[in-house]
Amino acid sequence: MTTEEQQSSAHVQSGPAGDAPRLYRDLSSWWPLLSKPQDYAEEAEFYRRILVSACARAPKTVLELGCGGGSNASHLKAHFRLTLTDLSPGMLAVSRSLNPECEHILGDMRSLRLGRLFDAVFVHDAIMYMTTEADLRSAMETAFVHCAAGGVALFCPDHVRETFRPSTKHGGHDAEGRGMRYLEWTWDPDPNDTSYVTDFAYLLRDERGVRCEYDHHILGLFPRRDWLRLLAAVGFQPKGVPSEHSEIEPGTCEVFVGLKPSDKRATCGKSATSKSSCERATAHNSSPAFSPPISASTCFPSRTRHGTCIRWPRKFLDGKLLGKPVLIELKGCEGLYPDDVYKVVME
Ligand SMILES: C[S@@+](CC[C@H](N)C(=O)[O-])C[C@H]1O[C@@H](n2cnc3c(N)ncnc32)[C@H](O)[C@@H]1O
Repeated sequence: MTTEEQQSSAHVQSGPAGDAPRLYRDLSSWWPLLSKPQDYAEEAEFYRRILVSACARAPKTVLELGCGGGSNASHLKAHFRLTLTDLSPGMLAVSRSLNPECEHILGDMRSLRLGRLFDAVFVHDAIMYMTTEADLRSAMETAFVHCAAGGVALFCPDHVRETFRPSTKHGGHDAEGRGMRYLEWTWDPDPNDTSYVTDFAYLLRDERGVRCEYDHHILGLFPRRDWLRLLAAVGFQPKGVPSEHSEIEPGTCEVFVGLKPSDKRATCGKSATSKSSCERATAHNSSPAFSPPISASTCFPSRTRHGTCIRWPRKFLDGKLLGKPVLIELKGCEGLYPDDVYKVVME
């Protein structure tokens, strides 16, 4: 693990759990033969155009959540300074060898807190691994707290509930001394829940011969109204944009853009690289016992129908404050608004 990874790992999980797809665990080195970086040029250009046109000012720094093997990044890095994060050490290693000039950090998009701001946040198909509304919302909150005011977050799901169709696909590539062919079967065991599955059969050829491996991916599936509702709930101004790609039937795919408002209530949002710009806020309350160090990495606000709530890790929470309003004095903590009253809720 690099120093950067060690620094950030306090706020992340150590890697995919045992039930994560094998493609991101023991089979991660095969990723470039399943999906070639060159094949991402057209879609990466579409995402670049969206990021540039949706941001209030020209974006320079971009955080990617769930960068995988870094295939999109290999095209986007010509235009932006990229920080690439993923839950899988194996996939990060693949991306690092393709994009050695980019910063790589191990992290779970549901909980990552880098304490830094970026002009834009990009979440490609990794967002499909959010299979519950709570996980999807957590990933959106991660994007929100890392996005500078006036910046955008771009989410690119493979499917939304309305246009989902079962499908079968095959492909694969060869490289020096190895080759891969796969059969991919996408289907929905239960149309009433928020997930579907993709089963893979991989044929892997190397110096030992050819072997067959099975893999099972569980992916999230949400109606577009839920995407828009959740983006708004975490604080973004949401918008759906139809996907444009020569291999996609028009009207069958959509990406979601969240603009982080840059109104006078929005906060630091200046520098994407300075850690100090979003490190501290302090809380005031009648209880003198309550003086947690609040930072972008230890708390975040969320808007609910009960008003704006702020969540603290349990260890910082004085039980007497539960449910009571707390006035936050803002000192550059992105996502918190000065003069607002926040309600403390248990995390
Ligand atoms: C299909 S790959 C992404 C490929 C990527 N779009 C590219 O351009 O190469 C999906 C990635 O999502 C990652 N992932 C799944 N759940 C995640 C989570 N909770 N946080 C961060 N990454 C996650 C996996 O480890 C995997 O690397």
